[in-house]
Amino acid sequence: MFASAEAFARAASLRAELERYNHAYYVLDAPLVPDAEYDRLFVELQALESEFPELRSADSPTQRVGGKPLASFTPVRHALPMLSIRTETDTEASGARAFDAQVRRELGLTDADPAVEYAAELKFDGLAINLRYEQGVLVQAATRGDGETGEDVTQNIRAIRQIPLRLNTETPPAVFEVRGEVYMRRDDFARMNERQRERDEKTFVNPRNAAAGSVRQLDPAISAQRPLSFFAYGLGQTEGWTEALNHSELLDQLAQWGFPVCEQRCTALGADGLIAFHDKMGARRESLPFDIDGVVYKVNNLALQRQLGFRTREPRWAVAHKYPAQEAVTRVTDIEVQVGRTGKLTPVARLEPVFVGGVTVTNVTLHNQDEVDRKNVWIGDSVVVRRAGDVIPEIVGSLTDRRPADASAFRIPSTCPVCGSAVLREEGEADHRCTGGLFCPAQRKQALLHFASRRAMDIEGLGDKLVDQLVDAGIVTTPADLYGLTVERLASLERMGELSAQNLVAAISKSRETTLARFVFALGIRNVGEATAKELARHYGRLDALRRANADALQLVADVGPVVAASIAHFFSETHNASVIDALIAAGVRWPETDGGGATQGALAGKTFVLTGTLPTLSRDEASALIEAQGGKVSGSVSKKTSYVVAGAEAGSKLDKAQQLGIKTLDEAGLQALLAQSDLSTNQEQDNEANS
Ligand code: IVH
Repeated sequence: MFASAEAFARAASLRAELERYNHAYYVLDAPLVPDAEYDRLFVELQALESEFPELRSADSPTQRVGGKPLASFTPVRHALPMLSIRTETDTEASGARAFDAQVRRELGLTDADPAVEYAAELKFDGLAINLRYEQGVLVQAATRGDGETGEDVTQNIRAIRQIPLRLNTETPPAVFEVRGEVYMRRDDFARMNERQRERDEKTFVNPRNAAAGSVRQLDPAISAQRPLSFFAYGLGQTEGWTEALNHSELLDQLAQWGFPVCEQRCTALGADGLIAFHDKMGARRESLPFDIDGVVYKVNNLALQRQLGFRTREPRWAVAHKYPAQEAVTRVTDIEVQVGRTGKLTPVARLEPVFVGGVTVTNVTLHNQDEVDRKNVWIGDSVVVRRAGDVIPEIVGSLTDRRPADASAFRIPSTCPVCGSAVLREEGEADHRCTGGLFCPAQRKQALLHFASRRAMDIEGLGDKLVDQLVDAGIVTTPADLYGLTVERLASLERMGELSAQNLVAAISKSRETTLARFVFALGIRNVGEATAKELARHYGRLDALRRANADALQLVADVGPVVAASIAHFFSETHNASVIDALIAAGVRWPETDGGGATQGALAGKTFVLTGTLPTLSRDEASALIEAQGGKVSGSVSKKTSYVVAGAEAGSKLDKAQQLGIKTLDEAGLQALLAQSDLSTNQEQDNEANS
């Protein structure tokens, strides 16, 4: 039985309706009906088409996905060649100025003539496609190829829901070729790669490669699963089309006819307008949902475009103005292992120097073995290096199809490359660690640098070069050795003058007077940062109490959980740590001790201070540290519980409030006097202890 006229009409109306819903969903991102309603109409159309196969048409939404894997793509000769555009790569405004000047010259314009109007749009980082519509129906999609001949990828392109199978117009031109870019959104790319990884399938290094690979996938069923998107930006051959006046109007019409057209576009007057667009999009580049590699400027008036014409293979009316590349390919010459302060082994890829994102990159951290495996980076591989914005450069992935025969896989060594101690990976952790502790020179160096750092013992002038020298020459092995350094010994080192040596010895000596919190932080206990060190100091008040505390007791300290508590207890139980601490104390490192815990005893314990205004000599940090060292607390706001308000110049509402509440106020001198009093009492306590 043949299909009735009624069935024909019903099929046509279903197709039109489904295409409209499809466009609303995929292009406008504004669904018109619930998914279930779409599915219901789709199934109805499928049923009609299988009953009457003659109803099936190329523009039917049922035909988007299908077909058998191909052996190869059929070549397609383009009716109009697909040209490329001239590219300005400089990051300066001069690219836009040179283009505008050239356009004006070629149009015979003088300075007296008005500014040329341009259409400015993004340069999408994907794959150029030519879509051919005959009588309004998509009949062929082809890649650019060499510009003259591309490949027939119709099957794969049909599956892209954003691409209309039929033009949304009652009066389509006989022939209408739309050109644009197939690309992949960043979020789609990330999700797809995640899925590929889960299935142990090939991952892609970036969205552009993923888009290109997916369009040129011979099995349309696989291609259809890839989340591709499309932006229209121009035309190929047309027949029977009444031309628009301007490029910007053309894009409006393409949007009208159902194509996705990027909204980040504008018309711009003269070079200044182009530069403004270039700068605006440059600032927006990171936050766009897809990659761009620049912007494109086109003379807006189509008649002027024709007048300007072409020079060999490039139009004179368009130019691409690129942003600095965020990705580049280079080679991994080696993967070295660095050992950090806590013994963490970090693989670092050494690269053939490559200029990317505005800097030359020579090495990039790979974080840990899992990361090396995930990115599949071997020594000798060509890799894609990315530096986006101000983000630290990273290896995106390796070009495995270019892997040379002599490439070698990387394995974290089982012994520390610096000290030879065993390397362990703890259960559930991504990191490998050297077990050598302070026996390991690498850890020792980092430990010394940490010990001397500003927020720890604050030894000015002890930089990494010097620490390298001191450790390599065996002059310093533990932080305690620093206090035995003499000017003569230091001055004998290379690149070390008499004066620097004197300054350093003075700085080391000065660091003897410290606080318990700084000292505990300086020890470099794993998982103990500055804030935890402060809490520990506040809670225990004295070092011997902290040293004696077991892991259970330690968990009573604010912010200390089981992991941190275990690290601390373990640290103090190591005999070599104990001897370093004893040696430091013997070398004269000292701090005011209290009874801790905010207890009622102790000089400033139980007292709350509020600092306001600018003190004549002490910074806010210094004043806080002095108060906290005596067991006092520093708070940000004045209340009835405040003991003292320390007020400096330009003290504001806090001082007023203190006066209202009748709270004692001090100036810096008053604070110093209070501190001196309490210092006396702590020293007495220390002396008593030493005597007992
Ligand atoms: S217009 C004759 N506009 O850049 C002018 N091209 O060399 C034809 N591209 O591979 C190109 N975004 O796929 C134009 N907004 C845009 C573009 C764009 C990306 C690509 C295009 C081609 C290359 C041009």
